[in-house]
Amino acid sequence: MSEKKIILTGDRPTGRLHLGHYVGSLKRRVELQNSGEYDEINILIADDQALTDNVENPGKIRSNIVNVVLDYLSVGIDPSKTTICVQSALPALHALTFYYMNLVTTARLSRNPTVKAEIQMRGFADEGLPAGFFCYPVSQAADITAFDATVVPVGEDQLPMLEQCREIVEKFNRIYGDTLVLPKAMIPENEMQRRLPGVDGKAKMSKSLGNCIYLSDSASTIKKQVNGKMFTDPQHLKIEDPGHLEGNVVFTYLTALCKDEHFERYLPDYKNLDEMKEHYCRGGLGDGTCKKLLINVLEETLEPIRKERAKWEADIDSVYDILAEGTAKAREKTNATLERVRAAMRIDYFKDRSIIKEWDKILKETDK
Ligand code: TRP
Repeated sequence: MSEKKIILTGDRPTGRLHLGHYVGSLKRRVELQNSGEYDEINILIADDQALTDNVENPGKIRSNIVNVVLDYLSVGIDPSKTTICVQSALPALHALTFYYMNLVTTARLSRNPTVKAEIQMRGFADEGLPAGFFCYPVSQAADITAFDATVVPVGEDQLPMLEQCREIVEKFNRIYGDTLVLPKAMIPENEMQRRLPGVDGKAKMSKSLGNCIYLSDSASTIKKQVNGKMFTDPQHLKIEDPGHLEGNVVFTYLTALCKDEHFERYLPDYKNLDEMKEHYCRGGLGDGTCKKLLINVLEETLEPIRKERAKWEADIDSVYDILAEGTAKAREKTNATLERVRAAMRIDYFKDRSIIKEWDKILKETDK
């Protein structure tokens, strides 16, 4: 088995990626990609997994594949260093899922806290739970092991998937011999990366709540979201009133995105965010000034991404080629893992004709 350092991570293509994705995972992926520490980096667009709760809406998944690839490319994912591929075009993943299903019990699957929460959220508890959705952690284990991933950078909500994957790996290796690589989760370092709230202060950015800032949003949309929707401190009515930082979305975003040099450029009254926070808490600093700074910082962060996206949008043929080539490469890799798995299970009947000898023996024994 390989001693290589291999990354696999993935996203469900259910919408454009937003600032929460950027702060929480995309930025990190680009850093990992450029660190030169990894032998292989793979990003899987998990369209099959997305179908497990979008069965009536395959068009949504189909159309968002291109959006997600464009988002990757525009933040700096470099296809010469990172393989971007599409799950449904990797049949080895389906086969692995089918074998792994026998290594988990339905009781174990029922205990997965993320899946449990999603079942409630999606109304599956009342409507009936699709078996495919219930089993998606098994399919995710297939994704991870098919790439021999050692490291899986994910959000905290994905820890139960990793735990389940590790159990499958251990069980498989115990029964069939050392075959699969045991992966480790890599979760965001700090609270800020873990969860950027929506502009309305709700825990998460979500399309249905309309509280996102998308990486592809125009400057004027961003301005509207910040000025029109973003929460500050409801007790901070007059400029002189002391302000509070807790639950203050403007400051949450500034904390996630602001660098000292932004102050030189946009608000030289302060050296850094700490100084500004102090003034805000003391009283005398208006929300308008804070929002204006944030709009500048957001624009500085997102403008290069928007420009890069426009470049790729104008060269959509290349985007197609990148995805097709990445997927072809991933198909080879995942097929090789499937072969290794089938060999370990001794169900590789048609690899060569050696099984004929076994058959001969069996037939002779029954003849006797
Ligand atoms: N479940 C992941 C999410 O919703 C997406 C995903 C699918 C994934 N396959 C993966 C993540 C493999 C990491 C590795 O975010």
